[in-house]
Amino acid sequence: MTPQRTAALRRRLLAWFDAHRRDLPWRRTPDPWRIWVSEVMLQQTRVETVIPYYERFVTAFPTAAALATAPVEQALRLWAGLGYYSRVRNLKRAAEATVAERGGVVPDRAAKLAELPGVGPYISGAVASIAFNERVPAVDGNVLRVLSRVCAIETPINTLPGREEITGIAANLVPSKRPGDFNQSLMELGAAVCVPRNPDCATCPVRGQCAAFERGVVDELPRRVAKRKPRIVHAVAAVVRKRGKLLIARRAEGGLLGGLWRLPAVEATGKSAEGAFRREYGLDLALGPRVGEVRHLFTHVDLRLEVHEAKLVAPISGDVQARPKWSTLDSIAKHAVSTLDRRVLAIALNGDPVAE
Ligand code: ADE
Repeated sequence: MTPQRTAALRRRLLAWFDAHRRDLPWRRTPDPWRIWVSEVMLQQTRVETVIPYYERFVTAFPTAAALATAPVEQALRLWAGLGYYSRVRNLKRAAEATVAERGGVVPDRAAKLAELPGVGPYISGAVASIAFNERVPAVDGNVLRVLSRVCAIETPINTLPGREEITGIAANLVPSKRPGDFNQSLMELGAAVCVPRNPDCATCPVRGQCAAFERGVVDELPRRVAKRKPRIVHAVAAVVRKRGKLLIARRAEGGLLGGLWRLPAVEATGKSAEGAFRREYGLDLALGPRVGEVRHLFTHVDLRLEVHEAKLVAPISGDVQARPKWSTLDSIAKHAVSTLDRRVLAIALNGDPVAE
């Protein structure tokens, strides 16, 4: 890129950002911890969804030390509904490391942030540039798309070479003055103008600097390599009732949604599900009618979860990892429950018609 084009891109993006920046809670604070929390939430979740979660989370955990010393269950509960729960576990581990190694002070350089457990190049770049004005890039999905178009990059962006190529471009582009605003201007342009489908080139501040626009290939970029289709997984959840209570169980740590609560469920169909409930939960169940179905698309799994009424035909046996417990509705509401499992619970409570 010529120096003139680089200078024009910087100038135009920052001027556009100054005119269009949204007033967001984490933009009103210089506190690196709050900025860090916001960036972790924003990594896979939209701004509008994040705002109320952010407010609750930083109220409960105003410092890294507050999160470090809190039970993980409380952190999960405040994250419940945001998805991608490994994010909050990593954030807690990183907060613990800042307390153990640095007295709870958030590192002020990207290289130091990246040494914390679970902190990758995006978070370290975003926090260092926004909170500490370090001249480093912060390349998220929006930035990959914007720069693949501005520079007409043909390398697929969902490959390591594609990400590396664009990160190199971003590293050269980011100015030493206002690096955090510049990085956010790229993200914001990607969210508001340079969107995946039908980008609004007519109002784009950097149309004159955009190689894809010049060549008429905006709609062909970014390129991606075809991904494998998510695997279809069939499962059964059991609604087991006793005097206004339901049986709930905690998901094993580590897996998808690990540590969160849900109705007992097994990866199986039909009668074989009963054997699985016995093995995994110590539950001797007679499965009754199907009262609903929930479909949920995870990154690699297309889950089809049938919800069945069930009767307990023998006492719960002791020696299983995931021993369920009886819980009232009020008490369930106080547990960390994912959006998926809230939908399952809604069916259990309303007997919703089968949803396709
Ligand atoms: N997405 C991720 N971080 C963001 C930020 N700081 N501003 C706008 N969108 C974002």
